Amino acid sequence: MSDIKKIAILINGGDAPGLNAVIRAIVRTAEKNGIESYGFIEGFKGLLENNYVRLDKSSISSGILQKGGAIIGSSLNTNVFNLKTIENGQEVYKDFSDKCVQNLKDDGIDCLFTLGGDSTQKSARDFSLKGIKVIGVPKTIDNDVACTEATFGYNTAVSVATEALDRLHTTAETHNRIMVLEVMGRYAGWIALESAISGGADVALLPEIPYDMDKVIAKIEERKSIGKNFSVIVVSEGAYPKGGSISVKNTREGGKGVINIQLGGAGETVAKEIEKRTGITSRNTTLGYIQRGGTPTATDRVLSTKYGAKAMELALEGKFNVLTVLKNGKLDYVSLEDVVGNNKEIGAVEGGTEDSNMRVVTMDDDLIKTARNIGICLGD
Ligand code: F6P
Repeated sequence: MSDIKKIAILINGGDAPGLNAVIRAIVRTAEKNGIESYGFIEGFKGLLENNYVRLDKSSISSGILQKGGAIIGSSLNTNVFNLKTIENGQEVYKDFSDKCVQNLKDDGIDCLFTLGGDSTQKSARDFSLKGIKVIGVPKTIDNDVACTEATFGYNTAVSVATEALDRLHTTAETHNRIMVLEVMGRYAGWIALESAISGGADVALLPEIPYDMDKVIAKIEERKSIGKNFSVIVVSEGAYPKGGSISVKNTREGGKGVINIQLGGAGETVAKEIEKRTGITSRNTTLGYIQRGGTPTATDRVLSTKYGAKAMELALEGKFNVLTVLKNGKLDYVSLEDVVGNNKEIGAVEGGTEDSNMRVVTMDDDLIKTARNIGICLGD
């Protein structure tokens, strides 16, 4: 058993439905065991500036389970091990992690809970090497955190994408159009693949399968030959054509120290190409941040609550420097070292790089087999 008395929670990265449910579960389990909880405001920024709030029964009681976003905010693209700062009018990247470690020691925080995706857990592991006790919880709508079968937020994103597909379907059918939906997911096609199945799409293009436009056109023509003059296509933001490259909207921070590429435009490219080649009016809709905001599904509320309670349970058992995971459908934990994978260097550029240890769709996944069995074209 551990002798922890005070814990703190921080969130890093894009919001995901279920964040507040995780906070609630951690704090409730902590209170039950006489442990005080705190939350750093805006994630690593709050940790660096030592800006935190007390989290207790009253702060988590006002309907936060069903609330989107996060009551303590989140830091975006913040790697305190390699953070942009201005010195003598010049932009420089510096390591501020020792200041964060000192803040945790001064505040008497015995364990830090890090709610985030691969880059957050990379920083968590880097803090563990500096002697901080950390426990990670896998958050992201992209479902791409290594070593776990599910991240919280993902189920809600799939539900939102499914509803969007249902709505696009009626427009496609009414106007005999091709309706393309670009969904998020970075370099993993989970959202695209699962929503294509649940939303009845005809084509799903994923980053894991560089697509052949001839195959996509053949699918559209095949549908036309049976009187279906419309098609619905899901395109993952990270999808790209065979021999081509990903659609980049923006490069942040000169590519240093953070997740440096903002994806966007893949859906528009696909829609334009289809219209050019088939003559059928084709329209793209980019679902964007609607996938990340708002109320979590029941599945995400339950998963978040399970992860939060498990994280606190691990702290009580003295199991630190781990990530809560789902393994064969059951709650479990793995070492942060395993989550980091090849990206071992402390403070290294992280998230969406070739070194990061993302969980992408594999060709033997049931979802791939199911999609192929029911005739969804995967662009190959
Ligand atoms: O990782 C979550 C996510 O929403 C991705 O799906 C998307 O590529 C990215 O974040 C967008 O990042 P930002 O909020 O910085 O625009």
